[in-house]
Amino acid sequence: LIAPPCGLVIFGITGDLARKKLVPALYDLANRGLLHPAFALTGFARRDWTPAQFEDFILDSIKNHARTPWDEHTWEQFRAGLRFVSGTFDDEGAFDKLAETVTELDQTRGTGGNHAFYLSIPPDSFPKVVSQLARSGLNTDQTDSFRRVIIEKPFGDNLETAQQLAGILSQVFAEKDTFRIDHYLGKETVQNILAMRFSNIMFEPLWNSNYVDHVQITMAEDIGIGTRAGYYDGIGSAKDVMQNHLLQLLALTAMEEPVTFDERDLRIEKEKVLAALRLPADLASSTAIGQYTSGWQGGEVVKGYLEEDNIPSDSRTDTFAAVKLYVDTRRWAGVPFYLRTGKRLGKRVTEIAVVFKRAAHIPFDKAATQELGNNALVFRVQPDEGITLRFGSKVPGSGMQVRDVSMDFGYGHAFTEDSPLAYERLLLDALAGNSPLFPGQKEVELSWKIMDPIFNYWAAEVSPAPYRPGTWGPETAHEMLERGGRYWRIP
Ligand code: BG6
Repeated sequence: LIAPPCGLVIFGITGDLARKKLVPALYDLANRGLLHPAFALTGFARRDWTPAQFEDFILDSIKNHARTPWDEHTWEQFRAGLRFVSGTFDDEGAFDKLAETVTELDQTRGTGGNHAFYLSIPPDSFPKVVSQLARSGLNTDQTDSFRRVIIEKPFGDNLETAQQLAGILSQVFAEKDTFRIDHYLGKETVQNILAMRFSNIMFEPLWNSNYVDHVQITMAEDIGIGTRAGYYDGIGSAKDVMQNHLLQLLALTAMEEPVTFDERDLRIEKEKVLAALRLPADLASSTAIGQYTSGWQGGEVVKGYLEEDNIPSDSRTDTFAAVKLYVDTRRWAGVPFYLRTGKRLGKRVTEIAVVFKRAAHIPFDKAATQELGNNALVFRVQPDEGITLRFGSKVPGSGMQVRDVSMDFGYGHAFTEDSPLAYERLLLDALAGNSPLFPGQKEVELSWKIMDPIFNYWAAEVSPAPYRPGTWGPETAHEMLERGGRYWRIP
């Protein structure tokens, strides 16, 4: 897969995402020969930069964050395609200037009328920018070249606002030209869930309620909110990552085999899972939220959420969330899917653990199997990428003692190939027009639809329970599983 000649315009180029992820990823793609030599990057921002200042900014971002080695030739090629347009989103003149820039690139650089617009900006600015793109005619081209829009979550704040946003976007860009980024789908280990399930014979026969006791999906971070108070407060952990990343992981774990791997077939299967999700009747005992306090982590004292800069001292924003969901299909009837996420937890780890039932009969005496847990298959999404299979094995010695052991697949050992970062993969796919790794609008809506009642319940009735940094969340989260005789894994 190689991107055709094209240009990319990034709105919000001075933001953290662009500086740390997008620009370096583009350079890495160029360095790997995956962008056409005519590729052009245009930054749009309020700053009053000269072309040279913009170049310095891009160079700095690449030097600090790119993964591939420095290559003078790649840089020269990349640099020749850099453009900068200064302006606000209200400024019609700036968008006219942008339109001129795009035309100039087509004429002098050879971008061939193909352009994508990346909105790396707060969602309340989306309507303004897309209407400006439409007004200045940038959303369409006379030839059969492409005009695409790439957007970052949050896609709305609930079902209603997600639909409003979609309504605004769809007036200007067709669904096939709209690329919604859920960067978890760009991760190699996440794509591997489907490879592992559907290219092997060993796992799928067990992948159902006859054998699976429950599934645990964990996305834990050890960092706090850092400097993101403005975005995070009022949003919280569940809206930030559970409504999108974790539900996508759930969908990939639970879905049926798609007919093909094109985006339509994949989306159909994911939508079926999301539509089959059901909340337990009692939200009080099947959800939990928390907020980190101050305390020790990684050998230093860290601030509590309420003491972080720019956080109101009475904020009820969750920095930890856990929920139990069911998938009402024949395959998964009665199997709970537990999702949890949080900041300032024990360590940074994302994993999906499929925990199996106990064997119906074990012919050893009870004492021999005291150290035998449930069999489990764990997708280690990050950081120690791989898969673990946990099962019982005889402890060497004269008795018949059985204890848990694990069999490991690690990317580092199995492959010499380098895994592209999520943004690298997704930018390439968006520029090449390859959509399977991008969620469709229907998935976004189904995800809000299942989560909205939980958000409303929390907003009305639950205050986040405090938890100390470096732990695995509040007591209420542990109680939630223990009620069913289960335990969260300590990854
Ligand atoms: C983002 C969230 O979507 O994912 C952040 O907004 C979070 O709060 C980040 O830190 C984590 O991404 P990753 O790839 O490091 O797991």
